[in-house]
Amino acid sequence: MCGITGYIGTGDCSTIVAQSLKNLEYRGYDSAGVALRNGSLEVYKQSGTIDDLTVPSMPSATCGIGHTRWSTHGAPTDENAHPHTDCTGQVAVVHNGIINNYEMFKNELCADHEFTSETDTEVIAHLIENALADTNDLREAVEQVVSMLKGSFAFAVTAVGHDGIVAARQDSPLVIGHSEDATFLGSDVTAFVEHTRTVTFLEDGDIAHLLEGDVTIVNGDKLVDRERQTIEWDADAAEKGGYEHYMRKEIHEQPRAVRQALSGRVDELAGTVDLDLSLSQEYCNSLDEIQIIACGTSYYAGLYAAELLEQYADVRVSVHIASEYEFRGDRDPWRTLVVAVTQSGETADTLRALRKAAGAGTRTLAVTNTVGSTIAREVDDTVYIRSGPEIGVAATKTFASQITTLTLVTIYLGRQRNALSSTEASNILEKLTAVPSAIQQVLDTESTVRRIAEEFADGDAFFFIGRRLGHPVALEGALKLKEISYDHAEGFPSGELKHGPLALVTDETPVVAILTEGTNADETLHNVKEVESRGAPTIGVTSATDPNPVFDTTLTVPKVGLMEPVVANVYLQLFAYHIAKRKGRSIDKPRNLAKSVTVE
Ligand code: G6P
Repeated sequence: MCGITGYIGTGDCSTIVAQSLKNLEYRGYDSAGVALRNGSLEVYKQSGTIDDLTVPSMPSATCGIGHTRWSTHGAPTDENAHPHTDCTGQVAVVHNGIINNYEMFKNELCADHEFTSETDTEVIAHLIENALADTNDLREAVEQVVSMLKGSFAFAVTAVGHDGIVAARQDSPLVIGHSEDATFLGSDVTAFVEHTRTVTFLEDGDIAHLLEGDVTIVNGDKLVDRERQTIEWDADAAEKGGYEHYMRKEIHEQPRAVRQALSGRVDELAGTVDLDLSLSQEYCNSLDEIQIIACGTSYYAGLYAAELLEQYADVRVSVHIASEYEFRGDRDPWRTLVVAVTQSGETADTLRALRKAAGAGTRTLAVTNTVGSTIAREVDDTVYIRSGPEIGVAATKTFASQITTLTLVTIYLGRQRNALSSTEASNILEKLTAVPSAIQQVLDTESTVRRIAEEFADGDAFFFIGRRLGHPVALEGALKLKEISYDHAEGFPSGELKHGPLALVTDETPVVAILTEGTNADETLHNVKEVESRGAPTIGVTSATDPNPVFDTTLTVPKVGLMEPVVANVYLQLFAYHIAKRKGRSIDKPRNLAKSVTVE
């Protein structure tokens, strides 16, 4: 995820800003840059690592902003790296998040502003240039521009002839650090934790004017006073936003990750989505089959999407573990769309399968998190899931973002193929937009899940069961647990229990059942009774309003229609996390596993 940093004070500005970029390195990035202000504005930026970026010592500089970029709009090139400047080179901007309506402004501004990048960020610099011509007050100019922008973002601006830095927060975090002779800015406290632990967290809608030793914050037309807090975290914990592990941090980032996946793509009332795909209506209608290829967690996201695609886009779907994929010669390549689902965009098995399909002349689409990845570069179309970097080896937030994005693809195809009415599409979109707050409700019960996890932690083995959309989530729940706790865990379609796994069920094998919308819950309930009569402890993850007393423990899922299993999965992530933590496992880097598997 991109990182913002800023400094104003009497210290060695260029060194402090350069060091703060190093501090933000852990967030993941593909380019970096700084803007330093003395009398003029000097910008240094380039793609690649921070070590490649030379920031010269500039004793006269008193104010600077910096950025680590994780590409979303435009490839990771020198031109697309931040900071971005206006035409005069007097205004510099660093930005996180997405400006949904940037294209409209870019089209308007193009007449008399020269653009040098493909980013959405650059419009902010040009809009501020225009606003400054009216007000000559940087904070007022930023206020004007923020009121024009749509999206979820945070940005910081510095401009020649204007004191300090102005920062705006809308859905994307920003924190200010205070010391006696300086003021700091960061996407998180890691940016400046070695200088001060006295901080102010900005809230949505805040616009802050940072001066040396002084900060003014406005929200709407009100001056606001945000409480200063003292951070106790050390640098390691600060990188993880105060969480002990990246995995837990990433589990908690899911509401924002899902929001980002939806941002600017959805017209809920009209029942339409805009994914910037080049798939024509004629092509969509000619499709006989979609083949999904993926590995690990991405494969389970693919299984989930398959059911939605068949139901709402009325198209046959087959889902393939990428290492098992063979493009079958009896399929018509022109009527088949191959969809690669991959967080990293680099998984060797998925890449090989994709090349096999593309070699047979099939059209390809990637659903990935990684701009500029090999798979994103090789396919005909890409839809980004916009999760931000995931550092924990065990995938968590990207599963939720993949399913959200694949649901948007489903709606797109369903509408193109006239298989889905606008009313049905609106209903699905309404449920999708409720997912972030439903996930938050689950996250808020974490202490209960931890207690349950500790109660069951000593089980001999763990079984996860579910039907239909509950099945991929059962598989994913078992995968998470085995990956990070090293316990034997397996996921099954509930109906398969009696065909073998039931032989393993004892009073030492907890069974976790997914019973939500889209999971044929009543039928799974029979299977729960089967295991219970063999003494197994049971945990029901359910959205039923009057949960069946059959369970030993019940975890309640907020009602969000066919997205309920995705929300249920958050309980399974927390369950796995707290069992692994109790056992003292290496949660972020489990033994023998890698985040990105680039060998076949
Ligand atoms: C590895 C990771 C898994 C991931 C799988 C697929 O096995 O440990 O967490 O699900 O690769 O990765 P991809 O980047 O293609 O989604």
